[in-house]
Amino acid sequence: MAEKSVVCRGICKSYKSFFGAEAKVLKEISLEVEAGEIFGILGPNGSGKTTLISIFSTLIYPERGSLHVLGLDASRRRDEIRKLINISTAKPNFPWSLSVKENLRHYGMLYGMHGSMLSKAVSDLIDTFELGEYTDMNFENLSTGLKQRLSLAKAMLNRPKLLFLDEPTTGLDPDISMKTRSLIRRIHDEQEISVIMSTHYMPEAEMLCDRVAFLRKGEVVALDTPQNLKNHLGLGERVVVFYEGPVDLKGLEMVQGVMSVAAEPGRVEMVIDRTRENLDRIIKLFSGAKILDISVKEPDLEDVFIELAR
Ligand SMILES: Nc1ncnc2c1ncn2[C@@H]1O[C@H](COP(=O)(O)OP(=O)(O)OP(=O)(O)O)[C@@H](O)[C@H]1O
Ligand SMILES: [Mg+2]
Repeated sequence: MAEKSVVCRGICKSYKSFFGAEAKVLKEISLEVEAGEIFGILGPNGSGKTTLISIFSTLIYPERGSLHVLGLDASRRRDEIRKLINISTAKPNFPWSLSVKENLRHYGMLYGMHGSMLSKAVSDLIDTFELGEYTDMNFENLSTGLKQRLSLAKAMLNRPKLLFLDEPTTGLDPDISMKTRSLIRRIHDEQEISVIMSTHYMPEAEMLCDRVAFLRKGEVVALDTPQNLKNHLGLGERVVVFYEGPVDLKGLEMVQGVMSVAAEPGRVEMVIDRTRENLDRIIKLFSGAKILDISVKEPDLEDVFIELAR
């Protein structure tokens, strides 16, 4: 069986401020990421996502704790690990005056590739990441989305077994984000690589990640599949009713399954547990009014995020 992507125990990291005060950024992080997973690291700004990804990808050392990446001890076998992983970050910064192709060749050479092997790898990546139109464009002239795509292509040069992505779609237009997500899914599926990614965008995590860990102030406060997190947190469905006429709003709060009621003239928003079982009783309280519209929204990862970030 393939080695787990990451196994860490008790990882701690602090930063010292200019005045010498120490801020604990990661506190006793212990988790395991399975081989083949797309694993999400979520959490509010400053919760430690980038720091954790930097430690997992061996860019910085933890102060305490043990870390194994692809079965290799990161305190002793960093160089071996680095041959097997790669990383792409939100704001890639490559040599500005080199073209897309030159950049890929440059990084390929850093991985020890040369000759026809290098040329083939570069041209395959240009095809996969649809960079053909831009091969001769300098990095400085690429749009944010193209820089991100080049960064992903660079991250695949050494055919990593484990790919780290820190905010892969932040700052991209919705259509380019969607395209980037499809590319991530495609390279994961076709090249059988494991992915550990951070994101602010909950639909992205829901779309891509098998499991997610929520960080809050440097601690893992939840770790599970998106579906289990939604189920276990007991988040109800959000039901919004637009109506005309009298409604017993106090009575609504008493109905079994109704977790909260927020009303304004002509509109009421309820959070309801097991809507299917309870909706009938709720609708009866609207019998003196005319219902103009009703919508039911299942809880999503955004609701989980709001709940956990409190
Ligand atoms: N090199 C550094 N020196 C000092 N403090 C740092 C350094 N890097 C990060 N920090 C602090 O560590 C904390 C966690 O930062 P980190 O970048 O890991 O969070 P994040 O979850 O990635 O945030 P974001 O969502 O904004 O990307 C923040 O308070 C940040 O200010
Ligand atoms: Mg970050």
